[in-house]
Amino acid sequence: MRKRVAIIGAGPSGLAQLRAFESAKAQGAEIPEIVCFEKQEDWGGLWNYTWRTGLDEFGEPVHCSMYRYLWSNGPKECLEFADYTFEEHFGKAIPSYPPRAVLWDYIKGRVEKTEVRDWCRFRHPVRAVTYNKQDGKFTVTAKDLLKQNEYSEVFDHVVVANGHFSTPSVPYFEGFGTFNGRILHSHDFRDAVEFKDKDVLIIGTSYSAEDIGSQCWKYGSKSVTVSYRTRPMGFNFPSNWMEVPLLQKVENKTCTFKDGSTKDVDAIILCTGYLHNFPFLPDELRLETANRLWPLGLYKGVVWEANPNFFYLGMQDQFYTFNMFDVQAWYVRDVIMGRIKLPSVDEMNQDSMAWRQREEKLEGATNQIYFQGDYVKELLAATDYPSFDVDAVNKTFIEWEHDKQQDIMGYRNNTYRSVQTGNLQPKHHTSWVEAMDDSLESYLGVQSESRKPVLTNIP
Ligand SMILES: Cc1cc2nc3c(=O)[nH]c(=O)nc-3n(C[C@H](O)[C@H](O)[C@H](O)COP(=O)(O)OP(=O)(O)OC[C@H]3O[C@@H](n4cnc5c(N)ncnc54)[C@H](O)[C@@H]3O)c2cc1C
Ligand SMILES: NC(=O)c1ccc[n+]([C@@H]2O[C@H](COP(=O)([O-])OP(=O)(O)OC[C@H]3O[C@@H](n4cnc5c(N)ncnc54)[C@H](OP(=O)(O)O)[C@@H]3O)[C@@H](O)[C@H]2O)c1
Repeated sequence: MRKRVAIIGAGPSGLAQLRAFESAKAQGAEIPEIVCFEKQEDWGGLWNYTWRTGLDEFGEPVHCSMYRYLWSNGPKECLEFADYTFEEHFGKAIPSYPPRAVLWDYIKGRVEKTEVRDWCRFRHPVRAVTYNKQDGKFTVTAKDLLKQNEYSEVFDHVVVANGHFSTPSVPYFEGFGTFNGRILHSHDFRDAVEFKDKDVLIIGTSYSAEDIGSQCWKYGSKSVTVSYRTRPMGFNFPSNWMEVPLLQKVENKTCTFKDGSTKDVDAIILCTGYLHNFPFLPDELRLETANRLWPLGLYKGVVWEANPNFFYLGMQDQFYTFNMFDVQAWYVRDVIMGRIKLPSVDEMNQDSMAWRQREEKLEGATNQIYFQGDYVKELLAATDYPSFDVDAVNKTFIEWEHDKQQDIMGYRNNTYRSVQTGNLQPKHHTSWVEAMDDSLESYLGVQSESRKPVLTNIP
């Protein structure tokens, strides 16, 4: 009997897992039977945009946390697949900070050319996973939303790849109930044009706060006020952008901050992060963690130490993304296929604890980047994922950090060298603050929606 593997989610992590098995098969290996359960109607995870918020047409929570006009917030050279470059996908080099549609196209391009779509069951949210100690198998219960029937199947392994930036973490502030405007979480933010000519308050100081504030500013908000809990972002923001200490209370439209200052605002956007959420898992299989670089309980960041037939992908906070998900997926594949032998549970725990102790001492983004780079290197060394120059990617990340410090509204105009092809990428035809159209066609300067676009106005 062939082993059966269930993958939960067909976002970049789940797709990496599909690609890993498909690549072993292409090399002549006998692979397990793979079933990928995906609750959305298409793959791509967060990159599969929807205008919907709240519940979808089936009453399922909407997964998408992305919004219109979202451009990559890091250089694409840092996430490029080692086995499928941007130049291979688009037919030539393209600028370094693509909008969402371009990255979605790239993610899909690698797998569309293969048989792995046949392994996916779209519109099939997983409802429950249970483990049977007697036979060492997992039962996965899913719902076919189109047929409206729930069913269960048995698997030897389960890979959880449902992402962790979809369930909003929503704090309460005194007086929210009296606010005369819209209060929303970044998960439900869709179109910055809604906030044109408005005074906007943003809570939080991480990537969502920085980017949603920038979107609102770019699309014409009257002012952007960012309220910080720990420390301000400290970038050189435009004059109608201010940073204030934590919100204390709201009375109608008036917000009062910890330093006693006040501001009347029209909307409050909570950029307060997300919760790891696995409503389909029992306690003994469920990862409980904050958003951090080394969640505990996962050997090599992926193997569930309490049950090493069970795996998680992409559960770390992320500097590295697509290429890290790839090495993780290659590692998981090799454990499942018996190519990598796992040590004892004690040894796995000790290894994880050593990473965690190092993680706890990290100070500043640069050290965090090196840390995640070291993790990627370790998995690269353990697998046959095409090797790439992780030190060069670290260097690009550090250059990116520096570019943001120099010019927070202009850093996306910079370009970097592809670590995979060695080519310096071209500049975009329009500066980011002036580029209002986030479509693939506009970015690539194409005449039609063809897969291999002609890049007419990119020098
Ligand atoms: C606003 C925002 C912007 C971002 N921008 C960038 C960026 O510019 N660059 C970058 O590299 N990264 C970015 N990220 C990080 C992002 O986490 C990764 O790029 C990537 O999408 C993670 O992939 P994933 O597959 O782990 O998770 P996801 O992309 O979240 O995909 C998970 C998939 O699992 C499915 N799923 C969930 N629950 C179930 C279930 N019960 N049953 C079946 N299927 C299920 C979902 O429908 C989804 O398709 C951004 C994140 C956010 C929130
Ligand atoms: N364009 C893009 O590519 C783009 C845009 C947006 C997001 N993203 C990605 O999305 C992911 C998630 O980023 P995120 O910013 O949503 O989450 P995050 O990185 O987890 O940050 C959460 C923020 O919320 C703050 N916060 C949490 N609870 C709070 C409270 N009760 N009161 C005040 N502040 C509170 C935190 O402040 P403290 O520092 O005080 O803890 C932190 O600043 C990242 O991977 C990011 O790269 C990308």
